[in-house]
Amino acid sequence: MVSPNPRLTLGVNIDHVATIRQARRTVEPDPVAAATLAELGGADGITVHLREDRRHIQDRDVKILRQTVQSHLNLEMAPTAEMVAIALDIKPDYVTLVPEKREEITTEGGIDIVGNFARFKEVVEQLQGAGIPVSWFIDAELEQIEAAQKTGAQFIELHTGKYAEAQDSDQQQAELATLKTGAKQAIALGLRVNAGHGLTYRNVYPVACIEGMEELNIGHTIISRAVLVGLERAVREMKLAMWGQL
Ligand code: PXP
Repeated sequence: MVSPNPRLTLGVNIDHVATIRQARRTVEPDPVAAATLAELGGADGITVHLREDRRHIQDRDVKILRQTVQSHLNLEMAPTAEMVAIALDIKPDYVTLVPEKREEITTEGGIDIVGNFARFKEVVEQLQGAGIPVSWFIDAELEQIEAAQKTGAQFIELHTGKYAEAQDSDQQQAELATLKTGAKQAIALGLRVNAGHGLTYRNVYPVACIEGMEELNIGHTIISRAVLVGLERAVREMKLAMWGQL
């Protein structure tokens, strides 16, 4: 099938490779190796979320990825002093600023720029002043889009979670329309537009068709599929190892 949007790129989020590693606090699977394989598969970028509680990606991962990633490295992080210092040190290709709550399982919604404007504008100035483009992960709401633009950030990432979680096709179409409107409004204000969260092999195509969309950041569904498509071979190889034949 021909892409409706040939410029659209894929950022592969490898957090859940680290989630599996951290379940045992061991050394495998290594997200650094996963990033290389994702790039071999055609990833245009590698995305990692360094969370305050370090539940999956570790500081060591980000440092090594900065040296090994051949595409671009998108560092997702909360707009805190600790994370800004790390970003200024590591210098990812761009930073996506996300809300973070310790008790959440994953990022639950877009960040509130309107309610934190002065502090957030300063964060953008610090990062972009050091040559690191900033993207705000926000819901497709006009007031947040306008606030994102006023912070001086170059990008927004539209939160596709509500679209992904829609309970029926009417609701999904309504959420898609909201995303389309948001993308249009952002582009009219001079922002560049990415999207992500909850996208799957089944629901990605309509979002990929949104005019002006530049990059989709996708993680959980790709890692989930990788576990299943790789399991048969992994078991076969363990049998070979047991027989001394690997
Ligand atoms: N974009 C942002 C800002 C995120 O926080 C996440 C989840 O870490 C993603 C994209 C990827 O979401 P998913 O793992 O559901 O594909």
